[in-house]
Amino acid sequence: MGLVMDSVQALSFAEWNPAVTPAQATDFTQILEAGRVLYLPQLTFELDSGERQFLSPQWLEGSSKSLYLKGHDRALRGTAAQGRDRANMQSMIERFGLRATRLVNSLFPIYSAQLQLGNTSFRPCEAAGRKQSWRHDDTRLHTDAFPSQPLQGKRILRVFTNVNPQGKARLWRIGEPFPAMAEKFLPLVRRPLPGKHAVLTALGVTKSPRTEYDHIMLRFHDLQKADLGYQKSVPQEWFAFPPGATWVCFSDQVMHAVMEGQHLFEQTFYLPVERQQQPEASPLRILEKMTGRRLAALVAD
Ligand SMILES: [Fe+2]
Repeated sequence: MGLVMDSVQALSFAEWNPAVTPAQATDFTQILEAGRVLYLPQLTFELDSGERQFLSPQWLEGSSKSLYLKGHDRALRGTAAQGRDRANMQSMIERFGLRATRLVNSLFPIYSAQLQLGNTSFRPCEAAGRKQSWRHDDTRLHTDAFPSQPLQGKRILRVFTNVNPQGKARLWRIGEPFPAMAEKFLPLVRRPLPGKHAVLTALGVTKSPRTEYDHIMLRFHDLQKADLGYQKSVPQEWFAFPPGATWVCFSDQVMHAVMEGQHLFEQTFYLPVERQQQPEASPLRILEKMTGRRLAALVAD
């Protein structure tokens, strides 16, 4: 009782390229790297009247949960829309990606030269009550890790904006700090089998070789989600991000669960650990300290 987690830090900026002093930038970067969420309640992403029609899951194709631009070729996926609709969707999502890029360049200028652009997505479906396997159930607390995309130690930095037109907040649970989570789950992670990464790469399951770091982070994601007792008992905070608000965090570090909400824009960036202000605050360095060995080298065959 009396637990104060203080997972979220509010900033009053209302522009995507705010004027930030060097001292403020150092501060914001420190807060982010400590595993907190930077929350900008006044930072809105405006849609024009023609774009509001896209606030509907009807545009999604098949089982896709989002309309998105891939990091590398920026081609629109996740929808069967054609012609003018498709072009307008593409430009709306591109515009969000540009805004989000400006924001991170302003708040964390130390990263700018080294940030790699990942997917830009728009998620028009309701997050609550979706039928899915426990592994894909994002209403369970987790740290992000991507099975098909080994990061080899790179960070996952994400910018989110709620654009819900009915006043509905995006409701998150935020879990305990990364080091406390890692203390619990690291003893349950077995070392990867020699040669496994070469097999996965050859089979096309992964796009680049997995490191031991990737292996541990994937196991963490699954162990956290599979443990319902932990989901309930872990220190956690609920936070509602209202429409018209933006927030930023390292989603590979902040334990998060999305309990409800609809209509969200999201931009992913990747950042090499050594470009952080304090690389020792990263999951990679924390895990290396705990295991006493280097984890971002390719898993040996
Ligand atoms: Fe996530």
